[in-house]
Amino acid sequence: MRIDVVSIFPEYLEALNLSLIGKARNDGLLTLEVHNLRDFTTDRHRTVDDTPYGGGAGMVMKPEPWAQALETVRENKRPVLIVPSPAGTVFTQAMASTLAQEDHLVFACGRYEGIDERVLDWAEGSFDVLPLSLGDYVLNGGEVAVLAIVEAVARLLPGVVGNPESLVEESHSDGLLEYPVYTKPSSWRNLNIPEVLLSGNHARIARHRRDEQLRRTALRRPDLLEKLDPAGLDAADRAV
Ligand code: ADE
Repeated sequence: MRIDVVSIFPEYLEALNLSLIGKARNDGLLTLEVHNLRDFTTDRHRTVDDTPYGGGAGMVMKPEPWAQALETVRENKRPVLIVPSPAGTVFTQAMASTLAQEDHLVFACGRYEGIDERVLDWAEGSFDVLPLSLGDYVLNGGEVAVLAIVEAVARLLPGVVGNPESLVEESHSDGLLEYPVYTKPSSWRNLNIPEVLLSGNHARIARHRRDEQLRRTALRRPDLLEKLDPAGLDAADRAV
């Protein structure tokens, strides 16, 4: 997969050199380039923003540097252009799985009040444009959202996570939150792990974990339980 990120704060994206993503880049599983939007300006001050038409607070990102930057990174095919924004569709694990199948993702990090809307209209001609939000809160710009989205997508690429089984039993993979986990010692500050985990009985352990998933999801994320397909629930699930 190839990823290009355009930002006025390329340093923000340096975390993508670390850990599993950094290793995936070194191993050639992922090609990732960060571009400074100011390199695509033509004036002495490298201006990327201007006042909003119609008035109002703050500044808006000018269209021309964006068009230059996006034309430069596009190459020949039709990449997905992800525009992080609190006004986007909320990003989910299901979207991460879909995006992990793509050849080329381009991220446009807005700052200030956002990017001139005509950039998105124009980009529709040669990109699949996808405005994405991390959730219902406002960040100062798209960079933090790019870190989150790139990490969620890149860890699904073949070979990035050492043990692919760890991708199967994690939160959201089956529509539920993951079960609680424990390690040694079995008794710590008077707190004991659930007995069943020491039983060696794999069926009982699986049932216990599933019960914990259901209980935790009901408590913390009842919205997810409502979305579950009833056909996927067995009698023991219903008893929880
Ligand atoms: N930019 C600003 N706020 C954001 C959010 N909630 N999600 C994605 N990008 C953003």
